[in-house]
Amino acid sequence: MLPHPSTAARALAMTTLVGAAGAAYAFGYEVRAYTLRRVALPVLPPGSAPVRVLHLSDLHMTPAQDRKQEWLRSLASLEPDLVINTGDNLAHMRSVPVVLDALGDLLEVPGVFVLGSNDYFAPSVRNPARYLLPDDGQRNTHTPRLPSEELREGLRSRGWRDLSNRRDVLETAGLRFAFAGVDDPHLEYDDLATVAGRADPDADVRIAVAHAPYLRVLDAFARDGYDAIFAGHTHGGQICLPGRGAIVTNCDLEPARAKGLHRHPAGSHPGDEGSSWLHVSAGLGTSPYAPARFACRPEASLVTLTSR
Ligand SMILES: [Fe+2]
Repeated sequence: MLPHPSTAARALAMTTLVGAAGAAYAFGYEVRAYTLRRVALPVLPPGSAPVRVLHLSDLHMTPAQDRKQEWLRSLASLEPDLVINTGDNLAHMRSVPVVLDALGDLLEVPGVFVLGSNDYFAPSVRNPARYLLPDDGQRNTHTPRLPSEELREGLRSRGWRDLSNRRDVLETAGLRFAFAGVDDPHLEYDDLATVAGRADPDADVRIAVAHAPYLRVLDAFARDGYDAIFAGHTHGGQICLPGRGAIVTNCDLEPARAKGLHRHPAGSHPGDEGSSWLHVSAGLGTSPYAPARFACRPEASLVTLTSR
């Protein structure tokens, strides 16, 4: 007769089983459970009709990701008035035509973009535990360069405005939008001095854009009077605690604001001088070397701008 396993052995077996089930779910299902998150953002002049903004981020696309490409292509049916793309589109040398093709009819819509570190440098094998640790300050800049200029040109040639350390103005849905953006703060490519200054007071709405939501960038845009700041990079924490949320953001933003709509500075209220809305996308992808998400679905966001 076999001896009864000890309580410790049973607990270990159960923990291993739960861990294996969680990993199977995170790698096998959730990482491809693409979700549209909808949110209302009250920044328009009183009496304005709603404006639909599609916020895309962190596609981390490889040519083989057919389902992600198909899901992305389907978003054109939302008929947004504006697309905001906050970078990290690429995860492969041959991904630029794939991304442009998957954006499809969205490229007919007015759009703005900035690039992220993963548009500049190829992904590499790194310790997956790094995703659960605070930002280690190391930057992935020793890998081959990705065709970031081909991506930039591809988007620009379809009329999307490049906001890398630039300000711009465009009209959509009958409203005048003033934009400012920075190149990726995670790589310290942000040049805040070139975009500094009071946001255009004559615009109907003022929006700032960055890939990685570092506090120095959020502080500067909020101080300059932007109504809302859009960012990505955090992947929403990517591996989250159910019911509790993100553990890390891979930058100096605190985990409580890793995704979704919040205020900046945290705790400020609309109308407070030097404050802004902050919308962070959890993004649609992951590094191909860490293809797992837990309690943090891959997402695009339909942000409906409404009257203040
Ligand atoms: Fe990313």
